[in-house]
Amino acid sequence: MALAFCSLRAEDSFKPGEIWPDNKGVHINAHGGGLLLRDGVYYWYGEHKTKGSGGNVANVGIHCYSSKDLYHWKDEGIALEVAPAGSGSDIEKGSIIERPKVIYNRKTGKYVMWFHLERKGRGYQSACAGIAAGDSPTGPFTFIRSTRASAGHWPEGYSEALKNGPVRAAGKNFSGGSLPGQVTLDELNIVKRDFDRGQMVRDMTLFVDDDDNAYHIYSSEENSTLHIALLSSDYLSHSGKYARIFPGRFMEAPALFKREGRYYLLMSGCTGWAPNAGRSAVADSIWGPWVELKNPFQGKGANTSFRSQSTYVVEAPGKKGNFIYMGDRWNPGNAIDGRHIWLPIRFENTQPVIEWAESWKY
Ligand code: DGJ
Repeated sequence: MALAFCSLRAEDSFKPGEIWPDNKGVHINAHGGGLLLRDGVYYWYGEHKTKGSGGNVANVGIHCYSSKDLYHWKDEGIALEVAPAGSGSDIEKGSIIERPKVIYNRKTGKYVMWFHLERKGRGYQSACAGIAAGDSPTGPFTFIRSTRASAGHWPEGYSEALKNGPVRAAGKNFSGGSLPGQVTLDELNIVKRDFDRGQMVRDMTLFVDDDDNAYHIYSSEENSTLHIALLSSDYLSHSGKYARIFPGRFMEAPALFKREGRYYLLMSGCTGWAPNAGRSAVADSIWGPWVELKNPFQGKGANTSFRSQSTYVVEAPGKKGNFIYMGDRWNPGNAIDGRHIWLPIRFENTQPVIEWAESWKY
């Protein structure tokens, strides 16, 4: 009698929300991730989650996978490992390492990784970026430092009145999802509060433009406002030039991409691990003005982005102009079982539209 043999293998299609096996038959463990395309190979970097409700902190590091077709992924191991618990390192086991993104610097030949970093035991109060670099796309990456953003620099267009005005943020309790009552963002003047220390960095992504300029896009000012910051030419620090966009809109989960010369952002609102309605925006220049569009998700489940939150947008291999939404369906009770929601993006003029599909191919 033949033995029943069951092994999980990836198929030539995307099945959003289902287990997505890698080449070893293991569900892909790369959450809040992003892709890098180098020499015809895609590298997927994401948070390696572990089992249970404690699995959202960094117990292992940043996981890397590779693929030529986006359907089948090879496990390339841990590209950046956490430091041992008790070592005092900024990236020690038990810290929070989220939304890693890797870009390649053509001038230096280095692979540069940025991520949202929260030091161990301080909740989400550090609000820093972590920076690591390596010589190979699969790593190992070496941690360089953690930093707030653009210390000692004002954002583009910040008014003299605010630069010289009062700061009313002291003693206020910030929930991360809304402003404390009875005070406006201008009155709080969080940019000025954080001027010397550097601006807060939470949910984030990176974007490299056609001219090789790279940008760091992150939730700042207690999550109330997104910042877009130009990186230095080696991509290892902020240049000091940055802009504030959507002040007071509490945007998270930014994914920036360029289509037909225009810049697009997919984002979410700010509700912790619980999903919410997606958001989208378009601009002719990366510095803005950014015009907020509609919730890109359409159909049943659109008000929760089909129970997902944006993390990245990639153009399909060999299909110029066909963009793919990458989102996370978080599972805070068992973090390792978070699912990947990849769906096609179509456009109604400049409005990105994402509809549900059980199974699809690009
Ligand atoms: C939502 C963010 O998008 C995630 O990256 C993570 O920071 C959770 N909030 C934590 O609640």
